[in-house]
Amino acid sequence: MRILAIETSCDETAIALLEAAGRLAAPKIRVVKNLISSQIAIHAPFGGVVPNLAKREHLKNLPMLYRKIFESSKSETRNSKQIQNSKFKIPKIDLIAVTVGPGLEPALWTGIEFAKQIHKELKIGNPRLKLVGVNHLEGHLYSFLLSQKRGMINNQLSMIKPWPAIALIVSGGHTILLKMDSLVKWKKLGETRDDAAGEAFDKVARILGLPYPGGPEIQKLAAQGNPQAIEFPRPMIHTKDYNFSYSGLKTSVLYYTRDQQLKTDDIKLKADVAASFQEAALEVLVAKTARAAKEYNAKSVFLSGGVAANAALREKLKVLSLKSKVNFLAPPMDFNTDNAVMIGVAGYLSYLRKKNRKITGQANLSL
Ligand code: KG4
Ligand code: ZN
Repeated sequence: MRILAIETSCDETAIALLEAAGRLAAPKIRVVKNLISSQIAIHAPFGGVVPNLAKREHLKNLPMLYRKIFESSKSETRNSKQIQNSKFKIPKIDLIAVTVGPGLEPALWTGIEFAKQIHKELKIGNPRLKLVGVNHLEGHLYSFLLSQKRGMINNQLSMIKPWPAIALIVSGGHTILLKMDSLVKWKKLGETRDDAAGEAFDKVARILGLPYPGGPEIQKLAAQGNPQAIEFPRPMIHTKDYNFSYSGLKTSVLYYTRDQQLKTDDIKLKADVAASFQEAALEVLVAKTARAAKEYNAKSVFLSGGVAANAALREKLKVLSLKSKVNFLAPPMDFNTDNAVMIGVAGYLSYLRKKNRKITGQANLSL
C-alpha cells in the first residue's frame, strides 16, 4: 500500500510518501520520501506561531512540496519557480492520510482542503483511493516505531515483548502519560493541567531572551550551566496522580530572573537558569514515568513529541529503563518534532482499524 501523508497542524508544512504492509501486530513501513518546509524563521520574530501566518505559508508550501515529492531526488536544489514549472508523474497512491487535529484550526484546514482536493483528482483514475483523517497525537505516539535506520520502520515490536508499556508524549501543546496494552489499546493516566512541557521550554526561553522555538536553545545553554545552581519547584512531583503542571515553574523562573535583575549579557547566570529549569522540568516527567512503569509492571517505556528531542530527557529515561530492565524506545532525531511520516504511520494504523474520523479541522481533538 502506498501512502501519501500530509501534516499542517502547526508551523511545519510536511508531506511524506510511505509504503506499508503487515497487520496491526507487526506493521511494516518504508519511508520513500519525507519533506518538511519549516516556518520557524517566519514566526520567530513574534516569539511563537501566528495562526494566520501559518495558514498563508501552508497554502504556499503545500503545492510545492506535492510536486517535489513526486520528482526525482536530483531536483532538491531547484528553486520554487523551477519546481512549479517542472513535470512530475504521480505513482498509484492507495491512501491519503491527513492530520485533522489537534492543532491550530486555520492551519489544519489548509492540509484538509488540500488532501480533499487531491483525493478528488486522483480518485478519477483510481476509484479505490482512500482518505483518512489522522489524530496528530497518535502520529507522535507511534513515532517510536520508526527505526534509527532511516526510512525503515523497526520490527522491534515483534522481537521484544513490549506490553504493557508506558508512553510519554511531550510536545509544544501536550504532556500526556498513557498505559498501553497494545498499539491500539491504551488508557490515559494523566496529562498537564495548564502549560505543556514544550510550552514551558518556549516561555522560559523567551524570558531568557532566546529565540523561538525555545527547547533546543534551552538545551544548548543548559549544557554550559549548573543544573543544581537554583532550586526551582518540581510541580506535582509528589501528587499521587499522573497529572503535570508547568505554569508555576515558568512563573518561578520569571520571578527569579526579575529578583536577580538578570542582564541579557550575563551568560553564566542565564546558563544556570536554563540548566536548573531543564532539570526541574525533566525530573517531574521522569519521576512520574518511573512511578507509572512500576505501578503497571511495564515492559517498555516509549517517549515521543518535540521535547523527546531533548538529549537530557532521553538519557534520563534510558538510564531508568536500564535500571528497571524495561525496553526504551524513542524516535530517531528526524521524527521527534512535527513531520508527515508519523502521520502516514498513524494513518496506516487507522486504516487497519477501520477508524473513520471526520475529515474536518478539530482543534481540540484528544487521544
Ligand atoms: O511536537 P512538536 O514539534 O509540536 C507540537 O505538536 O507541539 O513540539 C514542539 C515543541 C516546542 O515546544 C519545542 O520547544 C520543543 O518541542 N522542543 C524541545 C527540544 N526540541 C524541540 N524541547 C526541549 N528540548 C529540545 N531539544
Ligand atoms: Zn506535534
